[in-house]
Amino acid sequence: MNIQETAAKYSDYLMEMRRHFHAHPEPSGKEYETSKRIKEELDKMGIAWRPCGLETGVLATIKGAKPGRTILLRGDMDALTVQEETGLPYASENPGVMHACGHDCHTATLLTAARVLNDLKEELCGTVVLAFQPAEEIAAGAKGMIEDGALNGVDGCFGIHVWSDIPAGKVALAAGPRMAAADQFIIDIQGKGGHGSAPHQCIDAVVTAAAMVNNLQTVVSRNTDPGDPAVITVGTMTAGSRWNVVAEYAHLEGTTRFFSRELQKSLPEMMQRVVDNTAATFGAKAKMEYIRLVPPTINDEAMTDLAIASAKKVMGEEAPVGIDRISGGEDFAFFMEKVPGAIALMGVGNAACDAVWPQHSGKYKVDENALINSVMLYAQVAFDFNAR
Ligand code: NI
Repeated sequence: MNIQETAAKYSDYLMEMRRHFHAHPEPSGKEYETSKRIKEELDKMGIAWRPCGLETGVLATIKGAKPGRTILLRGDMDALTVQEETGLPYASENPGVMHACGHDCHTATLLTAARVLNDLKEELCGTVVLAFQPAEEIAAGAKGMIEDGALNGVDGCFGIHVWSDIPAGKVALAAGPRMAAADQFIIDIQGKGGHGSAPHQCIDAVVTAAAMVNNLQTVVSRNTDPGDPAVITVGTMTAGSRWNVVAEYAHLEGTTRFFSRELQKSLPEMMQRVVDNTAATFGAKAKMEYIRLVPPTINDEAMTDLAIASAKKVMGEEAPVGIDRISGGEDFAFFMEKVPGAIALMGVGNAACDAVWPQHSGKYKVDENALINSVMLYAQVAFDFNAR
């Protein structure tokens, strides 16, 4: 069994798929053509699949000839509503939609890894489940796939995200918190309106809201552990109807970011306390709705060690590198809440091919030659999962 040689056979296929998906991006939850093409490719390979997750998710299964446990490999497939400005010959043909986060690479590399694993299945122990996931950018796809049973019988999971800040040839892998949780909160304040000249007859929702915004900032500065970073941002604040009327209502919306399961539990409770008591100080009423969007992305230690060892085998001893945590969210976290898993950030940055633009930029590019590393890493991790 040689994963590097088998993967190399499919480098043209990988390029063809990647450019096809790049030219035909579809927004989150609407990956109809992408999903159709994935199914056609899997059919050509003779790999069994079933629909799984929203309207477009696909779950494929490759059974090894030898017994063993089951690992899920995930590749997401949605694009962003961003206008492409790369000028590449295979640039997006759909105006205003672009694979600006590299999920085209994920779809193409996972399909190519499917070919590699299928070729080598006589030597494979256990089962590999391939999750072609929709709607990552709106944090709906992983949840949808899990609800449709994607994790039934699955013992571990592994994902790869291409990352422009990591140089091509390297891969960032580290245990523990890797990417932030991203939640949303909505606060409605009710005071008592009245004449702007007679505040003593009113309860001012504007003054209450202003105090609440400031008090919420003290949750992070005074209540949470400084070693456990968190962000509370109030993004919108609307109140009042007229310059000479005391506002009866105020409405705040914002987001929280954090990296630990402890804060996932305690942060909303701390915020609720501030909201309730600030409102009470002014005699107002307040209601907070706290919406959990994405949990923190936390790499399991054993799965990370395994993936680092796999990366060294296929990419070289020097390939794995560390990276600071990232304050963006990743819905692969939902899989990792249920089964031990790890996500790797694959280096695709390379100034020589202008792959210097950040994720989500209209000029986002990857070093295509580095994509074979994802193919090899997916396959090697699948093999090594049953070798430990
Ligand atoms: Ni992404």
